[in-house]
Amino acid sequence: MAAEKQVQEKLEFQIPEIVLNSGHKMPAVGMGGVAEKLPPVEELTSILVHAMEIGYRHFDTAACYGSEEALGKAVAKALEIGVIQNRDELFITSKLWITHTHHDLVLPALNKTLETMGLEYLDLYLIHWPVRIKEGANMFNLAESEVLPFDIHGTWKAMEDCSKSGLTKSIGLSNFSCEKISQLLENATIPPAVNQVEMNVNWQQRKLLPFCKERGIHVCGWSPLGGYGTFWGSNAVMESQILKDIANSKSKTISQVALRWVNEQGVTPIVKSFNEERMKQNLQIFDWELSTEENDRILQIPQRRVGSGDVFIVKNGPIKSVEELWDGDT
Ligand SMILES: NC(=O)c1ccc[n+]([C@@H]2O[C@H](COP(=O)([O-])OP(=O)(O)OC[C@H]3O[C@@H](n4cnc5c(N)ncnc54)[C@H](OP(=O)(O)O)[C@@H]3O)[C@@H](O)[C@H]2O)c1
Repeated sequence: MAAEKQVQEKLEFQIPEIVLNSGHKMPAVGMGGVAEKLPPVEELTSILVHAMEIGYRHFDTAACYGSEEALGKAVAKALEIGVIQNRDELFITSKLWITHTHHDLVLPALNKTLETMGLEYLDLYLIHWPVRIKEGANMFNLAESEVLPFDIHGTWKAMEDCSKSGLTKSIGLSNFSCEKISQLLENATIPPAVNQVEMNVNWQQRKLLPFCKERGIHVCGWSPLGGYGTFWGSNAVMESQILKDIANSKSKTISQVALRWVNEQGVTPIVKSFNEERMKQNLQIFDWELSTEENDRILQIPQRRVGSGDVFIVKNGPIKSVEELWDGDT
């Protein structure tokens, strides 16, 4: 009881929630689960428990990140010490890796994820990329024979079965273009609840976002700070002069302006920080807003995608170009 009171005192506000097309609620900001060099499991577990103490309730991981185990342990620890009272206070996402994007491999992959995390269910399970590679292949050095055709309908059918079995409350996509979503919807009996894609002031998803909104598919934005300081990211968001000026004039940080902008587009930012101060800062985005003039300035920022998926393009492979992977979405 004392622990519960202590925790409640730390939470100064409730993070808003959005309702997915599956009927389930999702907190409007998520904590990322990938890092260039992840801390050891025990250390990462404490970091994630601390994030829960600070107020995060939505956590993102993936089979390929190496953070599933620590996140699962953090859930157990948070329950044990009373940071949360029930598992259903958290929203946990994981993702099907591209070695398992085949009808027969989806359920075993989800079961493996649940076993690694020690959880009975996920809140959201996503197809990580619309790509299939051979088991054991190195994503950053793919040989011609290692990229296989991706069976969009068979894979989605197996995702639907996962949803029906209750092992995940919602199912969705990640890195899917408008064209691939249209294809998937032709046969789907359960529509994707979410498409998680790169989204930040430098890649504003001007085609995909309205497309998803019209179809009731919620967009979550990865790398909302542009993946600042990571090998896959860029410093363009955090070093933007336009964001710097807006942040100074409002006494906010650049990251807060970047995250608030994503939030104002109706998108859920998935932002990673394992630093206490920055974790707190990144939650303070819900009680103020950007003006029309500030939004207009952000619209002027030159657009450049960072996570293009170019690693999946191999000579004579099933995906011929980055343009083909994204079906021309800009
Ligand atoms: N579906 C996909 O294909 C996909 C792809 C990429 C990422 N994701 C997900 O999206 C999450 C977020 O994306 P991301 O990790 O690429 O990038 P991000 O959240 O845009 O940026 C993370 C970087 O920014 C730093 N940072 C965080 N808050 C900050 C602040 N307030 N001030 C200054 N620096 C700050 C972090 O360092 P510190 O930790 O030191 O604060 C880290 O280096 C990932 O963790 C992952 O869960 C999904």
